[in-house]
Amino acid sequence: MKRLLLQLPLLLITLLLQLSLKAQDVKTINIQVDKPTVKIQPTMWGIFFEDINFAADGGLYAELVKNRSFEFAKPLMGWKEIQGDGGSGNSLIINRGNENINNPRFDRVTVKSNNGYYAIINEGFRGMGIQQGKTYNFSVLARKGAGNTKIHIKLLSADGKTSLGEADLQGFTTQWAKYTVPVTATATEAKGQLSVAFSNQGVLDIDMVSLFPQETFKNRPNGLRVDLAEKLADLHPGFVRFPGGCIVEGRDLANRYQWKKTVGNVEDRELIINRWNTEFPFRSAPDYFQSYGMGFYEYFQLAEDIGAEPLPILNCGMACQYNTGEVAPLDQLDPFIQDALDLIEFANGAVTTKWGALRAKMGHPKPFNLKMMGVGNEQWDVQYLDRYKLFAKAINTKYPTIKLVTSSGPSPSGDKFDYLQTELRAQKANFLDEHYYQSPDWFLQNAGRYDNYDRNSSKIFAGEYAAHIKEPKNAKESEVMNTWISALAEAAFMTGLERNADVVQMASYAPLLAHVDAWQWRPDLIWFDNLRSVGTPNYYVQKLYANNKGTDVVPALMDGKVLEGKDSLYVSSVIDKDKKLLIVKLVNTSTKDVAVSLNINQMVPQKCKWTELTSANYMDINTLDDPKKIYPVEKEIMLTKGVKWDDSVAGLTLKRGSVNVLTMTFPQTINIR
Ligand code: AHR
Repeated sequence: MKRLLLQLPLLLITLLLQLSLKAQDVKTINIQVDKPTVKIQPTMWGIFFEDINFAADGGLYAELVKNRSFEFAKPLMGWKEIQGDGGSGNSLIINRGNENINNPRFDRVTVKSNNGYYAIINEGFRGMGIQQGKTYNFSVLARKGAGNTKIHIKLLSADGKTSLGEADLQGFTTQWAKYTVPVTATATEAKGQLSVAFSNQGVLDIDMVSLFPQETFKNRPNGLRVDLAEKLADLHPGFVRFPGGCIVEGRDLANRYQWKKTVGNVEDRELIINRWNTEFPFRSAPDYFQSYGMGFYEYFQLAEDIGAEPLPILNCGMACQYNTGEVAPLDQLDPFIQDALDLIEFANGAVTTKWGALRAKMGHPKPFNLKMMGVGNEQWDVQYLDRYKLFAKAINTKYPTIKLVTSSGPSPSGDKFDYLQTELRAQKANFLDEHYYQSPDWFLQNAGRYDNYDRNSSKIFAGEYAAHIKEPKNAKESEVMNTWISALAEAAFMTGLERNADVVQMASYAPLLAHVDAWQWRPDLIWFDNLRSVGTPNYYVQKLYANNKGTDVVPALMDGKVLEGKDSLYVSSVIDKDKKLLIVKLVNTSTKDVAVSLNINQMVPQKCKWTELTSANYMDINTLDDPKKIYPVEKEIMLTKGVKWDDSVAGLTLKRGSVNVLTMTFPQTINIR
């Protein structure tokens, strides 16, 4: 009793402190958990893939040899010739023209003496990532001429002086055939090389020189780099948009993306220059081509492997309007439209159909269950509408259940945007694709962008977005644009997307991937070198939202209003009817900690998981060397009736500049309307 009396002043002070804090500072947010407003589509949070920044060749596609088929503009780009141990030989690039129209060139290697060797050394994509103890399959298409020339391959260190694994190939015949030999690396090297040495006097024709890790994502043949694909899978995206982006359009129509050239045998896929090779002179990449080793089949397979809906975007008969702006005449649009119809058959058709049979031959007799498709990327003006109408008519007639995604132009407002939105809504377009690369401030100002959109009109696909800060001078790290402030602003904005999930049914950050030594565009969601990858703060924001998607939006109100910036707070809440969860996302963009208390229909959650993402400085970034500087921290908090939220006397304290996700289960069944 005496002890209690002694403690009384302290208890009183605490109580007074609680009361005064509550009176002055605590924001009470009312969550109407029993009044769901709108459904959240399973597709809500997805990913946007484009072969920019070496995202496919040199990135997600696991091939380590650059220019494996000698089809680059300079046929030996990426290769270096060596005369070893007094040997003498040469490469002659031969074009077999009609004999193999898609992959015309091969290398005729002549070894002129039995002494020493002649070698060609491949530099990889800014080096080759080789890991100790991992096995790599070397393969080559070969045909012998005179003599019995042999091949000896070596994995080499960055300086070329140390061998990291070796293997031999011989016994070639006079007919083209594929030869494969495994080689296991004895050390790890981020910038390795591959030496292919030829000995014994004679002639050997070679093509499709490949070094491929045996281990790929889900061990798919011709598959994907494991760490990168796993990072995508961890997002649990609702859809995968592919193959872009501007790459769909091409700088001109000849260089547009044509899906039919990306399927079938890998050696029959016709390589083209990557549009990002020359797009930005200050970041030019003369060695950037599209081998299409990762083509439409691989994209569909990826989507299936990570449980996402495939969302292909096709060229609509228009090249990039920022470049040539070439258009196919309306009376010559049929081949473009036919490509779209055939793609649906490739994805969904019976194995007895022409394109369904190809899918089956490639290893996937079951349909991919394609449900939607984009017509054009960032197109605008009447030229687009004219072409879209013809596509829509043909696709809707033959495949009425396929939903179409249409362009809103390159910007989120302005004449081009208004014109397309008005016209396409009048035509009852299914999805309008909106793009915004804007300042963090724009994202904060626009958290309520969709509150007043027409609920009964076309739906929105926020198909490309990212908060861009002003480029800091002399920034050393590539990841420097993926600052904490940009991620925070996106998180705030995304509460508005989620709250309006009846209107915005799909959203994807862009671009997705970037090689630290070979990027053209930044910021990007995931950065990588040849061995490592790092999720940016923006990645963790995407992950938090996509992994806590819920099934229905429920109101989260302060003073009867949604929180879209008042007192620098951005809040959205959802329930997951299947898992019986309430999930509240709270973003505090202010420079002060903010105390909140949640009134959830007077109920007390049984358990609460609090995931917090924050950082001390707005310019903080994650790098390959410090990948978890900004990383979600999870803790369980206990809540009891009558007791305030943990961690602060007055409630839950949201740190200055923080993204918070509360996941709660309830003891009683939620009585939902
Ligand atoms: O994401 C990079 C580019 O931005 C895309 O290719 C294009 O659609 C947009 O302009």
